[in-house]
Order: sequence, then C-alpha cells, then structure tokens
Amino acid sequence: MKTQATTRHMLLSLTVAVIVLTGCRGGTSDDPPVHLNRNMDTQEKYTAQRASGFFADGKAMRTPPEGTVARGQLREDPIYFTGKDAGGVYVPAIPFEVDEAALKRGAERFGIYCSPCHGFTGDGKGKIMEYKYPIPPTNLYEQRIYDMADGNIFEVISNGVRNMPSYREQIPVRDRWCIVAHVRTLQTKGTPVPSTTVAAPAPTADAAQSTPTNSTETAQ
Ligand code: HEC
Repeated sequence: MKTQATTRHMLLSLTVAVIVLTGCRGGTSDDPPVHLNRNMDTQEKYTAQRASGFFADGKAMRTPPEGTVARGQLREDPIYFTGKDAGGVYVPAIPFEVDEAALKRGAERFGIYCSPCHGFTGDGKGKIMEYKYPIPPTNLYEQRIYDMADGNIFEVISNGVRNMPSYREQIPVRDRWCIVAHVRTLQTKGTPVPSTTVAAPAPTADAAQSTPTNSTETAQ
C-alpha cells in the first residue's frame, strides 16, 4: 500500500513538473510578460538597445553629432594632454606649477603604479624582480632618464614603451604629470648611473617589434 501511494505521488509530481517545464515552450507573444507587482520596473523611457518609434532610424541609442565632446573631455591643450608641443616635440618641463600637493600626489601614485616594477626608489628593482620578471624595468637613475624631457616621461606613462605597458587607463592626466614630478624628486636625491644601450627615443613600431627582449636585460 505504502509503495503504491509513493509511486502515485511520484508520478503526479513528474506530470506536474513536465507540464510546468514544457507548458509555455515554443509559444511566442508580443505581450509583455506577466508581471504582477510592477512597482516602477517598466517605465516609458529609453534604455540601451531599445527600439524607438520616434526617431526615423528606429534606434533609441543616438549617435552624437560629429565633433561632439563630452563635458570635461575637451582636450584643447596638446602639451598638457600629450607632453608634446604643437610641433610634436617633447616639452622639457611639467606644464603647470608643481606645488606641495602635486608632489605628494605624485609620490603616492608612483608608489601605487610604478613601484611594483621600478621600485619605491625608482632603481628598477621593484617587487616583480623578486619573482624573476624577465624584462628588468629601467633604473630611473640612468643618465638618459635624467636627460629625458618631462614630456617624454609623461608619454611613456601614457602610451608605454617597448616592454612597459601603457598606464593611460589607470592614471588620469594630471596624476601622470605629478608622477613625473616625483621621478624628478627621486632623481635629485640620487646620482646618475651610466645608461644602458636602449636608445632614449622610442623606436618606430617596426623596430619595437623586432627589439630583442634581452637588449634590456642589463638595464638594472
Ligand atoms: C609592469 C612593470 C612596469 C610598471 C608598473 C611601470 N614600468 Fe616603466 N618600465 C618597465 C619596463 C620593463 C621598462 C623597460 C622597457 C624596455 O626597455 O623594453 C620600463 C621603462 C620605463 C622608462 C624608460 C623609458 C625609455 O624610453 O627607456 C621610464 C621613464 C619608466 N618606465 C617610467 C615608469 C613610470 C613613471 C611608471 C609608473 C607610472 C612605470 N614606469 C611603471 C616596466 C614597468
């Protein structure tokens, strides 16, 4: 008796499950799904990817008119945003007055973004070297880094160079300049060491591809 009841029970559950799981399959409907408690979940507004009956092309997502610049993203000053003047030459100095706050900010940001590779003092012996990183980061006390224009260091942070990645996305423009200021502060406390053979100006894209990685292996 007991097993019979259990079997009937199981059969019933199975039938219900099959009906529930397959019941609405295959049917399409233009009506919105049943949504008993709507609160304010569905509103008369445009969201990404939604269609529009108002615009001729039927898209709710509008392409901004050509030349549109988002607020706060107008990059009129090439020196400040690229480290190069209108002629494409690296500017020798940071394009704003470096005060105490900027230096502090630079030291802090250097500690966060550069020290893992270049070390807190900038000697190129950051934490990664303890893990035998195959491409030694440049020692920032090399003579050629002392000789490098501030705009060039800004460019290295912005776009990376050879084996160093770009920090454009992580570090906002003003912070990059603050970091350059901190590199200069470190350099005034240290003494220049001879440069490695890596040429200071970044090579062309082709040359960068073919630069053997071991050319920097002595760059301690
Ligand atoms: C992931 C490790 C890494 C981080 C983080 C890093 N660097 Fe580098 N950096 C390198 C390596 C590796 C090189 C040497 C690249 C080469 O010569 O191929 C280098 C080279 C440089 C150079 C010399 C560029 C040249 O033209 O020879 C400068 C200057 C420099 N880094 C500054 C910075 C600053 C400032 C930061 C912080 C914003 C930073 N780096 C963060 C790895 C790093």
